[in-house]
Amino acid sequence: MKKLVVLSGAGISAESGISTFRDNGGLWDNYRIEDVATPEAWIRNQELVLDFYNQRRKQAADVKPNAAHYALAELEKDFDVTIVTQNVDNLHEIAGSSNVIHLHGELFKSRSTKDPKLVYDMTSWELKTGDLCELGSQLRPHIVWFGEEVPMMEVAVDVAEAADIFLVIGTSLAVYPAAGLVNYVGRGKPIYIVDPAKPEINLKPNMTFIQDKATTGMETLIQKYLLPDK
Ligand code: OAD
Repeated sequence: MKKLVVLSGAGISAESGISTFRDNGGLWDNYRIEDVATPEAWIRNQELVLDFYNQRRKQAADVKPNAAHYALAELEKDFDVTIVTQNVDNLHEIAGSSNVIHLHGELFKSRSTKDPKLVYDMTSWELKTGDLCELGSQLRPHIVWFGEEVPMMEVAVDVAEAADIFLVIGTSLAVYPAAGLVNYVGRGKPIYIVDPAKPEINLKPNMTFIQDKATTGMETLIQKYLLPDK
């Protein structure tokens, strides 16, 4: 089976009701990155950071995958699919995708501030000051903040290099190193981009831009390009 690699971003979850970051009215219109999504913010105002991610977790627990998430899961019948997502929600997994790499962490996990290898599944939406890891240190959201290493990037680069087909869906491609993954796709391999707005990228001859929302854009992608004979 051909290897289909998908780079997804907040836009794929937009039709499920999760806010994107950089659209009008998006999260970064209402919060400053440096107040809630950096290691310095955690040191300066732990309560604000915990609250920001508690709100995100509460919102994400209430929503369901949409047709685009399901379509990607369904594609496993015809392709060897790996999803590299910048999203911290778990909608790809709930939709049934079996191979999901989270570049920016996962909302429903917490992590020790003493030993980053100690990662825990969360049972409640709320992470509080005083919630401790087994070593007795404060738990933090299992999120990659701005200024931090992206531990899954190496794996994601290998996956991108091995892709026969690459799909970019619902991301502005504004955040590195994630946005740079498209540069690792082999020369001449087709790259499809599904987004209502053109991401921050120069379109090359091997790129096809489907200017549409995730749900209907996936239908076009599958019918016209991926499985035209089905
Ligand atoms: P952005 O908010 O930067 O971009 C969202 C993209 O989704 C834009 O290109 C929109 O045009 C598109 N979009 C909006 N509605 C859509 C729909 N219905 N269907 C498909 N696409 C739609 O979000 P990301 O690119 O995911 O990182 O942001 C990347 C990273 O920046 C995030 O992972 C997060 C953020 O800061 C961290 O917090 C570390």
